[in-house]
Amino acid sequence: MDKVLSGIRPTGFLHLGNYFGALRNFIKMQQENDCYFFIADYHSLTTHPTPTDLRSNVKNVLIDYLAAGLDPEKATIYIQSDLPEVCELSLLLSMNVYVGELQRVSSFKEKVRRQPNNVNAGLLSYPILMAADILVHRADKVPVGKDQEQHLEMTRDFAQRFNHIYGVDYFKLPVAYNFGQELVKIPGLDGSTKMSKSDNENSCVYLSDTPEVIKKKVMKAVTDSGPTEPNQPKPQAIENLFALMRAVSAPETVQFFEGEYNECRIRYGDMKKQLAADMTAFIAPIHERIMELRSNDEYLRKVIRNGAERAHASAAPTVRDVREIIGIKPL
Ligand code: TRP
Repeated sequence: MDKVLSGIRPTGFLHLGNYFGALRNFIKMQQENDCYFFIADYHSLTTHPTPTDLRSNVKNVLIDYLAAGLDPEKATIYIQSDLPEVCELSLLLSMNVYVGELQRVSSFKEKVRRQPNNVNAGLLSYPILMAADILVHRADKVPVGKDQEQHLEMTRDFAQRFNHIYGVDYFKLPVAYNFGQELVKIPGLDGSTKMSKSDNENSCVYLSDTPEVIKKKVMKAVTDSGPTEPNQPKPQAIENLFALMRAVSAPETVQFFEGEYNECRIRYGDMKKQLAADMTAFIAPIHERIMELRSNDEYLRKVIRNGAERAHASAAPTVRDVREIIGIKPL
């Protein structure tokens, strides 16, 4: 069975874009693989969250993932900072990583542009920590989006370099886990092509939103005055509404509104009401679980304690081996 690993940024509440992006695939992945999912709280320190925000973001992400169907019986779910082996491996790997190659990483350059007043060393060494996350479990596959491909490539470089320097065949080189065509891109309610919290909070529908909030957000979605000729291509904002509908509504519903649009009869108010209702129904079972989990700290603690134990069992032998290979041994 393949060992598959993924880090989850603790960004707080999850929205439908997250769900149809990675999350839904994680749920499928855990059936056929030995999966490790962890919340990357060390990584998130590079942006200096307050202790209160860090804590609640970690908790909310954990709750949303569990509620959506990550199963602690099937996958190992843990918090990065519960696995100290990662820090040690990261330190050991860093000795063979060059500052120049870190400075050339595009995510680093992007951060320098975005937060010029906080170019901390953690941002620079981010790819080393991420490589340690992966290599500490000697994972086979890592599901990565476009923005993380370079990091995975660096992980392979570091692994190969380690093998080369010490003349061993110790680390296997992790490859990308391919989702195939199953990544459904969810647009925002504000006319943007991607539902994203960093752009506009109101363009996102969260798994934890109440039906009232969902309705309010959807009714405010950007539209236009409607088509004037039959069978015209749709402007982006309208196409977005249809894309959202295709994700959560029955095919007949989508077909009905397609027909209305093509015959210039479309009433966006009706379409949005239907969309809000279908989103609410789609989210309902997840929403219910979220509410249950929020008041069940004992269960959450059990899940992460258990996860940390299993992660430790997987990671500890690696650090032991690496120390030995490097020459850190008892005198
Ligand atoms: N850098 C990843 C992100 O921003 C999160 C992450 C941290 C990760 N460590 C990882 C992903 C290891 C995959 C494997 O989304």
